[in-house]
Amino acid sequence: MSEIAKLELEGQTYEIPVIAGTENEKALDISKLRGQTGYITLDRGFKNTGSCMSAITFLDGEKGILRYRGYPIEQLAEQASFLEVTYLILYGELPTKAQLAEFEEDISQHTLVHEDMKRFFEAYPAKAHPMGILASMICSMSTFYPESQDPNRPEDAFQLTIKRLIAKLPTLAAMVYKNSVRHPFMYPKNDLGYIENFMYMTWGMPTEEFEPDPVIASALNKLLILHADHEQNCSASTVRIVGSSQANLYASISAGVSALWGPLHGGANQAVIEMLEAIREDGGDLDKWIAKAKDKNDPFRLMGFGHRVYKNFDPRATIIKKACDDVLDKLGIDDPTLDLAKKLEEVALNDPYFVERGLYPNVDFYSGIIYRAIGIPTEMFTVMFAFGRLPGWIAQWKEMLDNGDPIGRPRQVYTGENERQYVPLENR
Ligand code: SDX
Repeated sequence: MSEIAKLELEGQTYEIPVIAGTENEKALDISKLRGQTGYITLDRGFKNTGSCMSAITFLDGEKGILRYRGYPIEQLAEQASFLEVTYLILYGELPTKAQLAEFEEDISQHTLVHEDMKRFFEAYPAKAHPMGILASMICSMSTFYPESQDPNRPEDAFQLTIKRLIAKLPTLAAMVYKNSVRHPFMYPKNDLGYIENFMYMTWGMPTEEFEPDPVIASALNKLLILHADHEQNCSASTVRIVGSSQANLYASISAGVSALWGPLHGGANQAVIEMLEAIREDGGDLDKWIAKAKDKNDPFRLMGFGHRVYKNFDPRATIIKKACDDVLDKLGIDDPTLDLAKKLEEVALNDPYFVERGLYPNVDFYSGIIYRAIGIPTEMFTVMFAFGRLPGWIAQWKEMLDNGDPIGRPRQVYTGENERQYVPLENR
């Protein structure tokens, strides 16, 4: 017998069904509320509102839990490959050896992007932000594969589009990087692993041999896994709502890239490094900057701190912080920015303002330091976030379609003018 909530409104009692998830999360199903009562709910930023039922990722902000298809990310980050986790997130189960080998082979067949796409780079200004390029390149891919625009295409055509995106994102990301440093594009080498191929296309040069550093490959593998999905975050919700209009997958993912660009979301990893460098250039007075972050009249926020859901440690930050130490140690790098980050974390975590509000370091606080250590320019950090998040976006988009979720169209509370009559121009 499912639970029922009762709502008293204007002398009437309404019954609201209660839904429980597999982790016993509870929700009031208000899908019939407006029809029954004439009322809607209002929840700016959807802080208390579920948009869908999903079986992909479970997180518990209070307990600092994050699992992909039931598997704790701590185990996946330490033991799995990024393509293995991609398969898990997309298809719901860990692949067998044979399934993984077939998936890797399929992906390796689609790593090239259409030659004509290289011409787009000639039109961008020299300092074009990589996220602006990535978003438009991904949407443009739908024009090279017009069949992908058909919402009624068969399942195998869907799967081909999914594999094309997984295969070509690293190539596009490497091209965006090469464009930013004005180096020649490198074509993929399909005998390399997925991550090693990205490294080759990014740091390789046509004039010399390139040997992917295993320390960097391992760090990238871990970082990409930790970014692979995060349930209904801003960009995943964007991908879902764009896809709910039956827009094609490339267009939906492109919208997700745009949402991720924002400094309050995925753009935070770039903003963290810029903030730490600004603090260092300003003389490193942490108390001054913490005071700014707490001052309601100052728009400055501590980038990399706080989270909509985690009011305890972001479990990804804990893993990335350790990986940070490992990578810098193995590469023999002494990074004063990391030292400053650790000091800032210590000061903030002992300040009641942050503790009372549950503001802890999030996934972006340390990731930028690793990306910097392995030679990725700051403006490419959010491209790396998109690279990691792609499997999650695709899985959320596909689940929305497979579940038959309706087109997303929220309501509003109108606060504008009541009806008034038009005044002819000559009388105004
Ligand atoms: C990601 O959702 C996801 O899953 C996202 C993500 C993913 O994997 O997809 O985890 C990735 O986007 C991580 C977040 C990266 N963003 C940043 O690091 C930017 C800095 N953080 C904040 O802007 C903020 O914490 C948010 C946007 C992350 C969360 O904002 P909320 O949930 O809307 O919280 P809020 O703005 O209501 O803040 C609650 C209080 C407020 O103070 P009071 O009004 O209660 O006095 O905390 C304060 C805020 O002013 N606050 C901060 C702060 N974050 C919140 N104060 C100073 N510095 C901060 N960073």
